[in-house]
Amino acid sequence: MSFFFFLTMNGQVLLFVSLFALDAVYGQVSYSIPEEMSRGSLVGNIAQDLGLEIQRLISGKAKIYSRNNEEYIELSREKGVLLVKERIDREALCAHTAFCALHLEIILENPMEFYSVTVQITDINDNAPSFEKNEMKFKISESTTVGAKFVLQRAADLDVGINGVHNYELKPADHFALKRQNNADGNINVEMVLQKPLDREKEEQISLVLTAVDGGEPRMSGTMLIQVTVLDANDNAPVFTQHTYKATVTENSPAGTLVATVSASDADGDLNSKISYSITNTQDNVRNIFDINKDNGQVSLIGNIDYEKSRHFQIHLLASDDGGLTDSSKLIIDVQDINDNKPTINIMSKSNVISEDAEINTVVTMINSEDLDSGENGNVNCFINEDIPFVLKISKNNFFSLVTENDLDRERSGEYNITVMCSDEGVPSLSSNVTLTLLISDVNDNAPVFERSSYEAYIVENNTPGVSIFTLKASDADWNHNARLSYILEDSSVNGVPVSSYVSVSADSGVIHSVRSFDYEQLKEFHFRVRAQDGGSPPLSSNVSVRMLIQDQNDNAPQVLYPVQTGGSLLAEMVPRSADVGYLVTKVVAVDVDSGQNAWLSYKVHKATDRALFEVGLHNGEIRTVRQVTDKDAVKQRLTVVVEDNGRPSRSATVIVNVAVADSFPQVLSEFTDLSMHDKEYNDQLTFYLVLALAVVSFLFITCLLLIISVKVYRWRQSRVLYHSNLPVIPYCPPRYSDTLGTGTLPHVYNYEVCRTTDSRTSDCKLDRVASHNVMTMDPSLTATMQKIHSQKSILDEPESPLEVRIPFCKL
Ligand SMILES: *[C@@H]1O[C@H](CO)[C@@H](O)[C@H](O)[C@H]1NC(C)=O
Ligand SMILES: *[C@@H]1O[C@H](CO)[C@@H](O)[C@H](O)[C@H]1NC(C)=O
Ligand SMILES: *[C@@H]1O[C@H](CO)[C@@H](O)[C@H](O)[C@H]1NC(C)=O
Repeated sequence: MSFFFFLTMNGQVLLFVSLFALDAVYGQVSYSIPEEMSRGSLVGNIAQDLGLEIQRLISGKAKIYSRNNEEYIELSREKGVLLVKERIDREALCAHTAFCALHLEIILENPMEFYSVTVQITDINDNAPSFEKNEMKFKISESTTVGAKFVLQRAADLDVGINGVHNYELKPADHFALKRQNNADGNINVEMVLQKPLDREKEEQISLVLTAVDGGEPRMSGTMLIQVTVLDANDNAPVFTQHTYKATVTENSPAGTLVATVSASDADGDLNSKISYSITNTQDNVRNIFDINKDNGQVSLIGNIDYEKSRHFQIHLLASDDGGLTDSSKLIIDVQDINDNKPTINIMSKSNVISEDAEINTVVTMINSEDLDSGENGNVNCFINEDIPFVLKISKNNFFSLVTENDLDRERSGEYNITVMCSDEGVPSLSSNVTLTLLISDVNDNAPVFERSSYEAYIVENNTPGVSIFTLKASDADWNHNARLSYILEDSSVNGVPVSSYVSVSADSGVIHSVRSFDYEQLKEFHFRVRAQDGGSPPLSSNVSVRMLIQDQNDNAPQVLYPVQTGGSLLAEMVPRSADVGYLVTKVVAVDVDSGQNAWLSYKVHKATDRALFEVGLHNGEIRTVRQVTDKDAVKQRLTVVVEDNGRPSRSATVIVNVAVADSFPQVLSEFTDLSMHDKEYNDQLTFYLVLALAVVSFLFITCLLLIISVKVYRWRQSRVLYHSNLPVIPYCPPRYSDTLGTGTLPHVYNYEVCRTTDSRTSDCKLDRVASHNVMTMDPSLTATMQKIHSQKSILDEPESPLEVRIPFCKL
């Protein structure tokens, strides 16, 4: 067999196959035509190529037989050629089979002949490469390392051979490069290789175009869009907008107050940029005071904020994204003061007493005032109430001294309530106060003052000694012992006698007692001074003069001075018979040592020989004739005149006045003789009584003397029997009271207990009893004796003491 190829004018390749030695004259012919030829296009001249006559074709009713009933090719019997009956698409017919041919049989009848015709369909580049999808999507993390490969979809080209996919191109090529890999089956695998790191923050979407080109002429291409989404990797930390934030907040702001808002940003996307805020302070209590909203960064108060406790807060902030990347920042919060603290006042000194003699500017106490607030709110001014003799001086910052401004006088004001008020300069200002009660202590600066500048006291004479006369009273403005007064009688003398023997003053009460009985007739008045002395140190005293007036009592009867009353003598007043009416016979002269009414004398005739003859002047005692003396009147007239004072009760004296009515003395004498005889008789009787009285008194005296001697002797004997030992005998005799002070002041109470014996044998008493029961308050002069007694007692109290001492006590 031999093959001949011809290239025809219209590009058809004619294949001639010469078949020899075929029995049934079978011929075989092949043609090659490109696909997609229009209808009627010539496939081959079959009559010529098979050597058949056109006539034969017509007579043989040549027809084409196709196994698959394909009718792409038709036979023109008249022309003896094969024509394209229908458009032939190689791709539809043979797909990827590189050799594509139509196998036909040409059948002739009469006789029957078979001819095989093979029509090879050749490919033309009529298909562009195409991708199954026109877009491919990749999600690639930005953290993907360089060199990572991503398999791309291959393009398909229905054409085959050179017309198939020949090459790929990827654009732009800055991130990815294309890698081709020829497979054994002739396909090309394409991969995209990361050449340069991705950064989502710069480029989130990358669009690439993959172009597949075939090798045909002209070249055809297909494209596919590659969408690369760069996935975020948490490669960016959050970043605060400021390195340090600042905010202010006023103290005492309520919880929930927004203080500041901070924010941070994160360049990453989505979850990786979700920032949560937190406070990281651990040492301090910031987290109890501030809170941050973890989502929006709002810092707000949750606790109390007190400027006085902390003036600044430093909050450490942390912003973190979900990926755990963080940034930190600081929020510095300045707390603003508000005037919420009162000043405090401290009184520094413990003592609240000051002496009234404190000098001006004496510091009473220091005062400290503090205000926790600051600035104006903490500037403190202090005042004290006015009208008190104190001032407040600023000594140092917030220290004040309270000093006296004037002299103090306890007697004027014994205590002061000093209110210290301090206020700050805040608006509104707060203030507080403290009241200090300052006591003024007493100094003995006031002398006692008597109630009166002088006293006059009266006492009726013949008083009983010791009677209280009156009471002096002095007062002392000082306090306590500085005002405890004692009254002292000042030493002076009255008529050469110390005044203390007249009066005494009770030291405690100021009561003036008489010491003796006064006799107005001897002493009508006297003066003395009494001093009142206080108990201060040194004591102050003042004195007052007392005028003591003794009041008269009618204790003296009138005394008749004239006519003198003598026992035996006869005295008579002569009244001449010629005397006229109103003749002054005599004058009874009487005195009364009393005074006043008590000495106001009146005279009355008590008895008279002839009452009608004489009268006595009631007040002057003049005895005058009332009528003319007649001869009938007796010579001897006798008048008893009563002199009476005006006291109550009144006292009186009588005087007998003899009046002789005669003209001559001898006459008178004879008359009066018998009168004197009576008197002599009387005198004899008196002498007898006197002698009798003397005898009785003498007898009594001698009797007493004997009695005393006998008692003494008896006692002496008794004592000889009782005391055998010659142990020392300490006599103890309490001294009698004597006015050793010489002031006339009665000493204080003076007590002692006398040991009495019921039994006459024992004049002593048990020591114990004496020592323990003797209670004495006595003059200082006695103290020495007392001490002696005490020391004796301590010796004697020793139980082992061999001494047995008995102390006799003297009875008063
Ligand atoms: C001082 O205050 C006290 C008690 O508050 C009061 O009893 C006293 O009378 C006051 N003294 C003066 C001098 O005001
Ligand atoms: C002193 O303080 C009290 C309350 O502490 C107040 O009632 C009084 O009015 C204050 N006195 C003065 C004088 O401010
Ligand atoms: C008595 O007081 C007066 C002033 O009243 C004074 O001059 C005199 O010295 C005082 N006498 C005595 C003894 O203290």
